[in-house]
Amino acid sequence: MKALLLKSFGGPESFELSEVPTPVPQAGQVLVRVHATSINPLDFQVRRGDYPDLVQLPTITGHDVSGVVEAVGPGGTSFAPGDEVWYTPQIFDGPGSYAEYHVAHESIVARKPASLSHLEAASLTLVGGTAWEALVVRAALRVGESILIHGGAGGVGHVAIQMAKAIGARVFTTVREANFEFAKSLGADVMIDYEKEDYVDVIMRETAGRGVDVVFDTIGGNTLSRSPDALAQLGRVVSIVDIAQPQNVVQAWGKNASYHFVFTRQNRGKLDELSALIERGQLRPHVGAVYSLADIPLAHARLESRDNGLQGKIAISVAP
Ligand SMILES: NC(=O)c1ccc[n+]([C@@H]2O[C@H](COP(=O)([O-])OP(=O)(O)OC[C@H]3O[C@@H](n4cnc5c(N)ncnc54)[C@H](OP(=O)(O)O)[C@@H]3O)[C@@H](O)[C@H]2O)c1
Repeated sequence: MKALLLKSFGGPESFELSEVPTPVPQAGQVLVRVHATSINPLDFQVRRGDYPDLVQLPTITGHDVSGVVEAVGPGGTSFAPGDEVWYTPQIFDGPGSYAEYHVAHESIVARKPASLSHLEAASLTLVGGTAWEALVVRAALRVGESILIHGGAGGVGHVAIQMAKAIGARVFTTVREANFEFAKSLGADVMIDYEKEDYVDVIMRETAGRGVDVVFDTIGGNTLSRSPDALAQLGRVVSIVDIAQPQNVVQAWGKNASYHFVFTRQNRGKLDELSALIERGQLRPHVGAVYSLADIPLAHARLESRDNGLQGKIAISVAP
């Protein structure tokens, strides 16, 4: 099969389109013909060598699969050849999805929502699973609460806005002004231009000094230390970003705030719950650009550059 091999850590040119053996499903695994995958910041973090202790070269990266079951390993009972499936491969544990075929344990594989194309489905497994874990499992966001979602036009953020609206929350989001209409179309109530406005000022003004119940951090920087200023009493902060610098969160004390850190885990259950939102018309990934398997280096370069004009996700078409 064709796969995009990473032979050394470095820039997008470090990938090489190669011919490698097609994997064989073992007990409990399925072999999936990959129709689409997508690009996540984790992919370029792996590529440039941010996790040298967790990634053994040469490797195949990629963290979303939408495809069709080709074969089932011994004892497999959940799927049959021909089933359309979607999932995130185990992170840092085996080859990823930049390839024509992928094997996965069936416990992390789910049936693809019929109303999504493969490109759409592959744009949702990692970001959707992460947003679900952050908002539903960890922040326990409730009807009538308010949430600040940072980076609302990005992969995770654009899904989180829709999810928070489906839960019944009031949504504030930081985006650049060019993405106001996009964020509004997803359901955001208050858009904050992060280039021109201070989000704490806007939130305090809009909530008459109360603050929001939840801050969802998808951008890093000083968000951990600043969030208490934007939080209501008993507020929650959920961060999905690697924290490079220590931060002083002493202000959280006065707000009785709690902090949650999420590194997304794979399971079928949360994909099935995302499917329920999709079937009700409450969630749809936005595919902002499509590239081919061979052009993944171009897709990496685009996602990595800040002025990329992207909304939502970059999807990769592997098999038409
Ligand atoms: N822990 C986990 O399990 C997990 C899972 C998924 C993702 N992540 C991490 O979460 C982060 C976001 O992932 P993603 O897939 O959403 O990335 P993405 O698609 O690149 O989106 C990032 C978004 O953040 C926006 N942004 C950048 N700086 C900002 C700022 N100061 N204020 C407001 N928005 C800002 C960007 O907007 P512009 O276009 O305006 O620059 C972009 O829309 C990455 O660091 C990723 O590694 C972690």
